[in-house]
Amino acid sequence: MQVVRSLARLTRPILTFQRTKATISNEDHKLRQFIIYHHVERIYTDLKELGYRDNDPLKLADLTTLDQWHYNGTEPVDAAIKLLGIREGARVLDVGSGIGGPSRYLAHKAKCHVTASELLPDNHRVGQDLTSRCGMTGSVKHMCGDITTTKLGKEEFDHVVSFQAVYYVEDKLRLFRHLSNSLKPGGTIYFEEFCRLKDIKNSEEQAALDFFLLCLNTLPTHRDYKTMLEKAGFDVTVQDISDSYREFTHQRWKKWVEQRDRSVRLYGEDMVNSWLKLYVTARNLCNEFGLMGGGRFVARKA
Ligand SMILES: C[S@@+](CC[C@H](N)C(=O)[O-])C[C@H]1O[C@@H](n2cnc3c(N)ncnc32)[C@H](O)[C@@H]1O
Repeated sequence: MQVVRSLARLTRPILTFQRTKATISNEDHKLRQFIIYHHVERIYTDLKELGYRDNDPLKLADLTTLDQWHYNGTEPVDAAIKLLGIREGARVLDVGSGIGGPSRYLAHKAKCHVTASELLPDNHRVGQDLTSRCGMTGSVKHMCGDITTTKLGKEEFDHVVSFQAVYYVEDKLRLFRHLSNSLKPGGTIYFEEFCRLKDIKNSEEQAALDFFLLCLNTLPTHRDYKTMLEKAGFDVTVQDISDSYREFTHQRWKKWVEQRDRSVRLYGEDMVNSWLKLYVTARNLCNEFGLMGGGRFVARKA
């Protein structure tokens, strides 16, 4: 059977979805597809809870509490601004922008121009809608497609940022070379990613990682990422942020268990069960198994 290796490939056969690995049950696959393709609309339920009606203009400060799909809210975006020295007027590419949360916050905070690149049409569509309702179409441009095959202008960007999206890309070395080509000389990358902290010990750990990764074969270590970036011609610094991933995944799981009844009323039981399954798996990987952590990578085009 065909092995589907990246989210980019997974999105093409939505109707003819096949399978990833033998260790993942069909039931798990159904749950994961459910998460990937249907949770995007949740933002509208959340906005309603804040008192917004359909098509109301949005306050960015309200939206940023809801639209950051990576860990630890806007903190990593602030870190990117500081570590890369992103200035007013800079041109920045956001790889795997989700519904555009980090892109909008970055454009607002650093007064820069952001190209928000997103694979999934639904995420892209919602991202465009939210950006427009924030009155930010002048500073955030949305682009839909697989970043590895999207034509990027040579030396078009001053910086590239990415928050928990690079792990979905199968050929990461190719991606880094592609991004290097799109960066100006001396241009910089910040990305934050899940990293494998040790070898897999048993089938329980393997099954949890398979479920979490969905369609990928491997999760690189901090060192693997550094080596790939160096091969692509970058000078690299790496920060291990696994402690914050341990804390985040534990607290998120705890909060969702505590507020389960309210969440079921808002989003429905199936959605809440899907999210809880993902959250408990991430918590186990980062805490109980100590298999997964986080890395913050800053790279300068040499
Ligand atoms: C965990 S989400 C993070 C979204 C966003 N960075 C944020 O923090 O809010 C990862 C995103 O990367 C996108 N993605 C995955 N593979 C991609 C690819 N090859 N090209 C562009 N986007 C991709 C996914 O569709 C998803 O929206």
